[in-house]
Amino acid sequence: MQPTGYPELDALLPRLAAIGSLEAEALEAERVAILGRKQGVLTQALRALPKLSPDDRRRFGAEANRLKAAFEEAFLAREGQLGTAKAAGPLAGQDLTMPGRGRWIGALHPVTRVMQEVVEIFRELGFAVAVGPEAETEWYNFGALNFPADHPAMDMHDTLYLTEGPRGRGEEGKRDEGRMLLRTHTSPVQIRVMQSGPPPYRVVIPGMVYRNDPWDASHAPGFAQIEGLAVDEGIGFRDLKATLTHFARRFFDARTRVRFRPSYFPFTEPSAELDVECQICHGGGCPACKQTGWMELLGCGMVHPKVLENCGVDSERYTGWAFGLGPGRTAQQRYDIPDIRLEYGGDMRFLRQLAGQDRP
Ligand code: PHE
Repeated sequence: MQPTGYPELDALLPRLAAIGSLEAEALEAERVAILGRKQGVLTQALRALPKLSPDDRRRFGAEANRLKAAFEEAFLAREGQLGTAKAAGPLAGQDLTMPGRGRWIGALHPVTRVMQEVVEIFRELGFAVAVGPEAETEWYNFGALNFPADHPAMDMHDTLYLTEGPRGRGEEGKRDEGRMLLRTHTSPVQIRVMQSGPPPYRVVIPGMVYRNDPWDASHAPGFAQIEGLAVDEGIGFRDLKATLTHFARRFFDARTRVRFRPSYFPFTEPSAELDVECQICHGGGCPACKQTGWMELLGCGMVHPKVLENCGVDSERYTGWAFGLGPGRTAQQRYDIPDIRLEYGGDMRFLRQLAGQDRP
């Protein structure tokens, strides 16, 4: 800036020139010293204007205001520079005009969602939730459930054993003997529930189970199950049918057709498999249901009297039914998931597609 011709104003010119090299704190102090509303040198010079002759007032006023404008511009410019200098720190090299990265919003896993829904439907019917250990003894997993000693499910190639030792189906009273294993179903928790106190029992039992299975489109070595157990006086097969039919219609659709097929489990007699109408073709036949029009939902049956007796429950007085459902299978049916590995593989690209989606 050109000199103003007024020594008191021109004395400020070196300070004007120095502003470009001040750091943040000094810059702010200088701004107050020059332009501050009370003590600012320029402010005070301008405040003296009324005392000057009209002629001087006009000329001096014009020069002082010119200098003030120059200072204001210099302060702004330097602040701007320091602003960019700050961005050169942690944000160096970043394109500040890019849209921000969204945070991931958590969501329930489709299998978890199915499990919670199953639990909720049975909760409405008065069932409580029970859980048990994933590492079990042979007695809880097999023996108490009336598996014969030579049942193929107990073979090494089906069951993941944790300890070595002789095959020990175990006896009541010696139930902690024998090998430890990863439970192959949630049914051992039936036993633990019945041992915990006298009937009646109405529980659902969600949890993970393990089998010596391959990792392919329809198998996983670890997968979820939900068990159900109802034991009381006067419970019959009609209760099983009515409750599980209600459950299937509540879970899928009020008009979904169901059928019970005879089946076999060592711990239930009679035993059945519950099928629901294929949710994709609704009975017409499609690849998902292998042209049958039906999908398997769960295994069930009347609790075998031997199982009740194994738990000290009087099988003359009490009867009951049980079921076991694979929520992974059910989620596959509901969300049309072609490969079980998608459910248990933890691939976020798949999981995010289903996040927040209640129904397909
Ligand atoms: N535990 C059986 C299975 O894993 C399912 C089942 C549970 C069947 C309860 C009947 C009663 O396949």
